Amino acid sequence: MAKPGILGRSSMPRSNEGMRLIFSAVIGVMLGYLFGISFPTVNITKLHFPSSIVSYIEDRNSGITTQTLLNHAWTSANSHKKNNSDSKSDEIPKIYVTSNPKGAERLPPGIVVSETDLYPRRLWGEPSEDLTIQPRYLVTFTVGYAQKANIDAAVKKFSENFTIMLFHYDGRTTEWDEFEWSKRAIHVSVSKQTKWWYAKRFLHPDVVARYDYIFIWDEDLGVQHFNAEAYIELVKKHGLEISQPGLEPDRGLTWQMTKRRGDREVHKVTEERPGWCTDPHLPPCAAFVEIMATVFSRDAWRCVWHMIQNDLIHGWGLDFALRKCVEPAHEKIGVVDAQWIVHQGVPSLGNQGKSENGKAPWEGVRGRCRKEWGIFQSRLADAEKKYYLDQGITLPNSTSS
Ligand SMILES: *[C@@H]1O[C@H](CO)[C@@H](O)[C@H](O)[C@H]1NC(C)=O
Ligand SMILES: *[C@@H]1O[C@H](CO)[C@@H](O)[C@H](O)[C@H]1NC(C)=O
Ligand SMILES: *[C@@H]1O[C@H](CO)[C@@H](O)[C@H](O)[C@H]1NC(C)=O
Repeated sequence: MAKPGILGRSSMPRSNEGMRLIFSAVIGVMLGYLFGISFPTVNITKLHFPSSIVSYIEDRNSGITTQTLLNHAWTSANSHKKNNSDSKSDEIPKIYVTSNPKGAERLPPGIVVSETDLYPRRLWGEPSEDLTIQPRYLVTFTVGYAQKANIDAAVKKFSENFTIMLFHYDGRTTEWDEFEWSKRAIHVSVSKQTKWWYAKRFLHPDVVARYDYIFIWDEDLGVQHFNAEAYIELVKKHGLEISQPGLEPDRGLTWQMTKRRGDREVHKVTEERPGWCTDPHLPPCAAFVEIMATVFSRDAWRCVWHMIQNDLIHGWGLDFALRKCVEPAHEKIGVVDAQWIVHQGVPSLGNQGKSENGKAPWEGVRGRCRKEWGIFQSRLADAEKKYYLDQGITLPNSTSS
């Protein structure tokens, strides 16, 4: 699934060593676990390992790690015993920390690591010296190799302060190595999936927690007039938790909101066609951006991720619901006009559909999109209805969607 990186490649010819590493890691974890659970009531005689295990591990792993581990355990156990001998000792309570993440209550909080990152590390040296730079922004593109020129141009607009992540829907990953930046990018390859499918699976909020802003972008965006660093400055300045760059050309665009305005840095409200907006603070007149080039703050993404449905992969309708995640939405969702992009409208994933009943592949995909939109809307409405019902609150007949 994940593209084999340095580790995969270098360990292949020496798979024995790899196996050994894994094996000793597993044993290490097992021993650690055993000590962990037996410590409070440990009795020195219980810490007697069959010497066959110890020598086996030493053999396999030149003994260093395991021996250190064992020494440490013996010392601790001994001191426990000594200290405990004057008082009633066997009563040290087991660890149970309710404020730990769910499922990890038995661990001492100091060892709990509940979030991770996408920073590649070296296989050698001091762990603390692995990272020369810790990017604070993440940009993902869902790509097919046919769009390589466009993606190459886009990626070059993102500085070293960005982690680049590519979701490959066509299974072609190694071809991208012709680009220098590809070596520092994170590649995820799963055949024929959509942007929101990947986002739901690989961008869990605890995985991307290190990033202040997360760009979840399509592959067909023209970035000649876009600078990512400047974009982020504007987003911060105007307090936008969810945003997108203004779009050009404006012909063929469905929504007024996402069209670029030439005369300002940012806009958060728009006029629409008569009758389209029941409330000027609600979509599509405000609190609204599209899902093709969306940028989320860390907090907004944590909420939006939870709203993405595992089975509704096209994300249709999500744009209208983004506002559920920020408050007040009409001030925190907006379009950045000063850094804008060109929507090229290249049919891409649509062509990855399947011909059915004599219809073109893209027609089937489009049909599914519409269907999902309806399902999403009713799920959201039902969930809200249920919530209010459970709270004993009766809603007026027409709830906003
Ligand atoms: C046992 O007591 C010694 C000295 O009294 C102390 O240095 C050591 O940290 C104690 N060990 C534990 C596990 O409490
Ligand atoms: C990267 O981020 C640092 C710290 O915010 C900033 O000083 C630097 O200018 C950024 N790099 C680019 C290319 O903008
Ligand atoms: C809501 O609908 C019910 C019946 O469907 C109707 O009796 C009631 O008057 C409606 N309430 C409002 C506020 O429209």
